[in-house]
Amino acid sequence: MREKINEVYKMAKESLNGCKDLNSLNIIRVQYLGKQGEITALLKGMKDVSKEEKPEIGQLINNARCEIENEIETLQKKFEEEELANKLNGEKIDISEPSKVVEKGEIHPLNKVFDKLIDCCVAMGFEVVTGPEIEYDYYNFEALNVPKDHPARDMQDSFYITDNILMRTQTSSVQIRTMENRKPPFRIVSPGRTYRADSDATHSPVFHQFEGLVVDENISMIDLKSMLTKMLSMLFGENTKIRFRPSYFPFTEPSVEVDATCPSCGGEGCKLCKGTGYMELLGAGMVNPKVLENCGIDSKKYTGFAFGPGVDRLAMVVNKIPDLRMMFENDTKFLEQLK
Ligand code: DAH
Repeated sequence: MREKINEVYKMAKESLNGCKDLNSLNIIRVQYLGKQGEITALLKGMKDVSKEEKPEIGQLINNARCEIENEIETLQKKFEEEELANKLNGEKIDISEPSKVVEKGEIHPLNKVFDKLIDCCVAMGFEVVTGPEIEYDYYNFEALNVPKDHPARDMQDSFYITDNILMRTQTSSVQIRTMENRKPPFRIVSPGRTYRADSDATHSPVFHQFEGLVVDENISMIDLKSMLTKMLSMLFGENTKIRFRPSYFPFTEPSVEVDATCPSCGGEGCKLCKGTGYMELLGAGMVNPKVLENCGIDSKKYTGFAFGPGVDRLAMVVNKIPDLRMMFENDTKFLEQLK
């Protein structure tokens, strides 16, 4: 029996010495320690051992089992660690590889101009209001002192939906909606989309305006000029100067066309401003008393000024873009240049 125990132990030791991985270790475990295993067989053989020898033989078998168990446990740990190390090695990150470029969105150049205008005007105490893009003829024309047969309607080729309803041609309609609903004093700006049947390098059927309106006592053209100087300086640079040229709009009297010194040459004259030193930017004027009265505002007590740049035009000047349509094509190659 002693020999048998020794032999089993030696065989187990040899198998364990040659064992290379977890799989074969499991097979050895079953072979020696399992229910049908060698050690179990030795224990079963105890019944044939004489009473005197039983304690010693029992002890020997137990010792052999403990040794084998310990050895298996040690190997198990070793193989598991090796397996983990191999796995980690296989997943190693190569930090010298160039990374994937993450494309980042940007605010559209048009919206950047809108944001700047709004920030500047809000800082001057203006409130932002909006109006509908599908508008009644009354708000878009009639109440702005442009009756049905007025020649000024020819200046704005309109998309009519019915005889009475159209896609608004100007954000000036929001002036009327505001004056109908509020009592002076107030200062509002109204950013938004406008529509005209027009399409070439400087006109798009959908375009954008930024309407401004101030109504209070003692408002004069000086207020208009200083306010616009501030707004355009913020957009084009601190040293921007502006000038008024006489113009005509049915809803303002007097009306002006506002030019600012060319942001490219600072007023010297260059290709962009066609040598004039100035860029034509927007229409403005003192609110026509007739328009105030149309909205129930006492024109003897109150005066006001209004202005309405085309924001697309401003964005073209800011970014030196020759063709307005580029702004709406959503060509990312073009837009990326204006980041
Ligand atoms: N609504 C005018 C247009 O589309 C622009 C304009 C001119 C707006 C003078 C105004 C203004 O508020 O006072 O051509």
